[in-house]
Amino acid sequence: MSKLIDDFGRHIEYVRLAVTDRCNLRCQYCMPAHGIPIVPKRELLTFKEMYRLIRVLTELGVQKVRLTGGEPFVRKDFVGFLEMLSYNDLLEAINITTNGALISHHISKIEQLEKVKNINLSIDSLNREKFAKITRRDVFPEVYKTFELLEKSSLNLKLNVVVQSGFNTNEIVDFVRLTKDKNVAVRFIEEMPFNGKGQRKMEENWTLKKILNEIKTEFDVSEIESEKSSTSRNYAIENHIGTIGIIPAFTRTICNDCNRIRITSTGTFKNCLFDDGVFNLRDFIRKGASNDDLKALFLSLVKEKPKNGFIAEANRKAGSVSESMSTIGG
Ligand code: 5AD
Ligand code: SF4
Repeated sequence: MSKLIDDFGRHIEYVRLAVTDRCNLRCQYCMPAHGIPIVPKRELLTFKEMYRLIRVLTELGVQKVRLTGGEPFVRKDFVGFLEMLSYNDLLEAINITTNGALISHHISKIEQLEKVKNINLSIDSLNREKFAKITRRDVFPEVYKTFELLEKSSLNLKLNVVVQSGFNTNEIVDFVRLTKDKNVAVRFIEEMPFNGKGQRKMEENWTLKKILNEIKTEFDVSEIESEKSSTSRNYAIENHIGTIGIIPAFTRTICNDCNRIRITSTGTFKNCLFDDGVFNLRDFIRKGASNDDLKALFLSLVKEKPKNGFIAEANRKAGSVSESMSTIGG
């Protein structure tokens, strides 16, 4: 059977699929206060179209899918879609990235879905006022409740913390402290300076190195072996149940082992977070493409996967990256 392998020998095994471009929050680093223009519903992939794309991809060797948004739980009947996807016997794992503000009542249901294994919860501050300032919505109590429920659940939990100069860098050590007695992987993400309006000015660049130095001011950390395609460098701290990680989202030192492709909520295929989209899958299926057509297409598209995020960015036709992660699909 043909497999998705790019020109650099990287095997594509992971697809990130944005199920919507809508979000219930307005994170400063992601979008302007008034939000970003959302696309008409008919331009979004339907769940059936998504199911089909994922099915074809799994027949080409994809094993895992991460569902993102916008906020995935904003899409009506997202939990039903999780059930639907679970019927794909070629799929090993369904992972979800969520802001956690709408999901506490769904957790027990999600736990019953065997393939749903990992949840990444975005939480950038442990202080209610600061959280409200960053997300422009006062939902910290609900998000924290979700955090506690997920931590006790059978799901594997990671926290995503975008390190924002001038906002939450003084909370880095508080987040690390959480790992002492909570079974959670806290991952600090380098901020990418684009938020749907254009390039965002940052006071200081909080790179992986700088974040690690900040952590070392209080903790003795030792690097742990990570899966080859891991997006983060991971560390353990003695006597802590949880672990920490840093995602070099902006300095892009992990591209060599990238095994991912992306599909946006409108069906744009992307080989890299930093490229500007290489193909509209939605129009292709709506014009009647067969599964074999789709397979041939995917096999050729991944051959164009750029070596790394810098090359992807340089190759953009639309200039430097400016769009929101809500559009790209976090
Ligand atoms: N820089 C870094 N991370 C970002 N995310 C969204 N926008 C940015 C950005 N500009 C992250 C969110 C979330 C995931 C979906 O993407 O924190 O965890
Ligand atoms: Fe919504 Fe996520 Fe963007 Fe925040 S980062 S506004 S939660 S899509």
